[in-house]
Amino acid sequence: MLRSAWSIRRLVAHGQLGKRSIHAKTTPFPEKLAFAFDIDGVLKQGHHNVLPQAKRVLRLLSGADGRLPKPIPFLLITNGGGIPDEQRRAVLSEELGVELTENQLVQSHTPIKQYVDKYRDKPVLVIGGKGEDCRRVAESYGLQHSYIPQDVIAWNPSIWDRTTLTQEEKDFARPTDFSKVAFSAAIVMHDTDDWGRDITLILDLLSSDKGVLGTRREGHNRADMRGDVELLLSNADLEWRSDWPIPRLGQGAFRLSLESVYKATTGLDLPYVQFGKPFKATYDFSELMLRRYLKQVGRDPNGQLNVYMVGDNPLSDIDGANRHGWSSILVRTGVFHDTHGEKPTHKPTVICDDVEKGVEWAIEEELRKGNL
Ligand code: G3P
Ligand code: MG
Repeated sequence: MLRSAWSIRRLVAHGQLGKRSIHAKTTPFPEKLAFAFDIDGVLKQGHHNVLPQAKRVLRLLSGADGRLPKPIPFLLITNGGGIPDEQRRAVLSEELGVELTENQLVQSHTPIKQYVDKYRDKPVLVIGGKGEDCRRVAESYGLQHSYIPQDVIAWNPSIWDRTTLTQEEKDFARPTDFSKVAFSAAIVMHDTDDWGRDITLILDLLSSDKGVLGTRREGHNRADMRGDVELLLSNADLEWRSDWPIPRLGQGAFRLSLESVYKATTGLDLPYVQFGKPFKATYDFSELMLRRYLKQVGRDPNGQLNVYMVGDNPLSDIDGANRHGWSSILVRTGVFHDTHGEKPTHKPTVICDDVEKGVEWAIEEELRKGNL
């Protein structure tokens, strides 16, 4: 038993055992084990920097390097987003060196696609991301009347006169008379490049009469008078780990600003529905995806799963995993650091240096517990 555990552990530590493989018949295998990986700060640091240990681990678990007798299931759950799921999956497969299937990636906005059926035929304002990428995300989820802030500015620049559209923006903006459009939702899909413009448009819609820009409904600042526009947010991260050495502000910081301005102008708490880690909707959806993946690879989708979430952010990854009954592995390659003895705000099952050490620990743990 120990010998086997040692063997699989050494397999994870790439290069030490060369191309030796383990055989299911002779070696205990952690049958119930599955992983959920965060991306930024765990597999990557910044847009283009993939950690080498991440590549090794994913090649091992996916069976791509041929050293496991069968794959160990995993999926990636990120609070990032801003491009359609299919496109992100293709980019990540290339970067990470493993072919991810459609059930192995959950972006911050992916669970929203189950929620937005009610807006399929209704106008929505889609906020965040580069150019019109998030409009493409929304359209890929079936939202047929998706508008973006540039469409609104192109219609009437005086709604927010601090921003001048570039030629490229003018080219993709869809000419529309927004005095005749009744929005039913504002959906923040990703970090926004223009906080002033987007806070203004959201405030206008929340206080509007039936979702029409340029109107204000009576009682818009009364807690008992609900508006007609629902606000959805895809990511609550205050900070995230890019390639800059100090954590950067995320969509959660945008929400805090929006809440504060909404409170100051209406006296009310901002009404919104939040998706992304650590929230239940995202973990429920991710578990569904993991089980679909099991089915896809011919395994029992209803069997017991011991999921280990590897994350760098205690407030999102670790809190969410703990609440969902998963084990949680906090790594030191992202937002969290304990160089000065800092304690994480949410206690993980274990703290490891990086994703490879975390995977190694989880495999040993499952073998130690006899979860075979
Ligand atoms: O915008 C990216 C972000 O907030 C964090 O991404 O992969 O660490 O959940 P991730
Ligand atoms: Mg992260």
